[in-house]
Amino acid sequence: MSVEDHRKIAKEKMRGKCGVFSMCDGAPNKICQGNSYGKPIGFGGVGSGASFVNNVQALKKLNLKMREIGENYTPDTKYDFFGHELTMPIMGASITGVNSFGGDNAITEPDFCKATVLGAKEAGTIGWRGDTYTYTFDFMPCYDAICNHADGWGVKISKPRDQEVLKKVFKMYEEGNAIAVGTDVDGCGSTIMAANNKPVFRKSPEDIKELVNYTKLPVIIKGIMSVEDAVAATEAGAKAIVISNHGGRVLDHTPGTADVLFPIVDELKGKVRIIIDGGIRTGYDVLKMLAIGAESVLIGRDIVRAAVGGGTEGVNVYFEFLQKTLVKAMWMTGVATLEDITRDVIYK
Ligand SMILES: Cc1cc2nc3c(=O)[nH]c(=O)nc-3n(C[C@H](O)[C@H](O)[C@H](O)COP(=O)(O)O)c2cc1C
Repeated sequence: MSVEDHRKIAKEKMRGKCGVFSMCDGAPNKICQGNSYGKPIGFGGVGSGASFVNNVQALKKLNLKMREIGENYTPDTKYDFFGHELTMPIMGASITGVNSFGGDNAITEPDFCKATVLGAKEAGTIGWRGDTYTYTFDFMPCYDAICNHADGWGVKISKPRDQEVLKKVFKMYEEGNAIAVGTDVDGCGSTIMAANNKPVFRKSPEDIKELVNYTKLPVIIKGIMSVEDAVAATEAGAKAIVISNHGGRVLDHTPGTADVLFPIVDELKGKVRIIIDGGIRTGYDVLKMLAIGAESVLIGRDIVRAAVGGGTEGVNVYFEFLQKTLVKAMWMTGVATLEDITRDVIYK
């Protein structure tokens, strides 16, 4: 089955939450954004939806420079992630909480976790997993998917809960042979955690240092939207940062992540792994982010649609589509390897 076949199924299952439109852009007329200001965010962006829309717009204003005269080659998308060779610099974002996009009628939380982790693994890449208000030490579907079903082939991003909770979670994943762990520091603005009385905190550089020193696994800090935070996380020992506004779900009126990527790359390229997400839907978008200077990207909502529509197979097929479009984009812009990609590939 194709990406489109899976989307047709997802459209039925996500009725009322996501219209599964061909372009997922958070526009005000779309179902996900149709709620009035202050209502639960469902699958959309928080408040007016501006942060979600800005992610898509920031990418849209960048265009690819065609370069067709030169020698023949087959683009190589292989990517090294902490010593693991991936088929592409594209991974599945840490999304959790099926209640936001249809609940058990769409897919159960354990099945969603397995589909994203195993579908990514089949495609030769990694499905990251997140954390939400329903998760406890008695209910850990992400752990089950990554450590019991995929031999540790996954990344766990915990909400910025209490330090002792994070340490316990990190240790479990370390013992379960996970690839990396981290926290989404922007999760301190999660309306879903707040509404369900699950405390989340701002994290200080000392908190991050403590976590880095506590585990042997690389620690990733996700939810960076300023040069200042990027520098602070790097100086505290984070091995990777994810530039992200949580798909526009934690604070209204933030810029598109592609816009924030430029100054962070200028400041930190080569000092920390720079990963980014927000509004990335195709390999063409991926190439734009790599051209600005990201090392790799995460895909959010489109992976949900793939998982709901086709489970593990749906996710695998969607990653294949992403890789195929990245190869096409590299082929048509004259770059053979990820290392060859520079800002020269894009027109601003
Ligand atoms: C329904 C939903 C749930 C999410 N849950 C989490 C989570 O548990 N942890 C996390 O780090 N990010 C979470 N995110 C943010 C994603 O990891 C990612 O940053 C975002 O979806 C990227 O934007 P995109 O959806 O436009 O691709 C969630 C996003 C959505 C849409």
